[in-house]
Amino acid sequence: MAIDVEGYKIIMQKRLSPARYVHSVGVANTAAKLAGMNNLDIEKSYLAGLMHDYAREMSGTELLLLAQENNLITDHIEVIKPDLLHGTVGAFLLEQEGLITDQQILTAIRNHTTGHPEMDWLSKLIYIADYIEPERKFPGVDKLRTITYQDWNLGVLAGLNHTLTYLLQKAAFIHPYSLMARNRMLEEIGIKDCN
Ligand SMILES: [Fe+2]
Ligand SMILES: [Fe+2]
Repeated sequence: MAIDVEGYKIIMQKRLSPARYVHSVGVANTAAKLAGMNNLDIEKSYLAGLMHDYAREMSGTELLLLAQENNLITDHIEVIKPDLLHGTVGAFLLEQEGLITDQQILTAIRNHTTGHPEMDWLSKLIYIADYIEPERKFPGVDKLRTITYQDWNLGVLAGLNHTLTYLLQKAAFIHPYSLMARNRMLEEIGIKDCN
């Protein structure tokens, strides 16, 4: 039997803390709003947003074990920082448990944590909706929102730039997909390199 939106909400409410559940609904609403503004599929965007953090509260040990057992690792950094696997593992579990069959939604969930060099519209939309949903509070989020609501592709690029800048400032690991995604967005949007 097909699950309706209320059914999906109940599933997430059971899996997540109240704050993370509110975040998930915020991402769903933001994704749906952006989809509506840009003539994209609103229902698909809402569902992908709602379910994107399905594996967010699994421990690093659990994520890593499941990813290793099922050959889901794409880069060694995921072994060092297993929380990065929550998108990949979430998509894997949602498919395995028969909760979501739509491959585009599963791919967007898989891609949301690091970005991906081959992001389609839904992957990009969930990536940026996750970043700017109303509960997000970090320096620069309002600017990111303004850019995204003016031109959502520019918002995706700005989000990726923000991530890379933040990680460099912290001297933290950077997943190669984030860098590749950022370069691909730069190419797609056609912004000329300054050099
Ligand atoms: Fe996430
Ligand atoms: Fe999230």
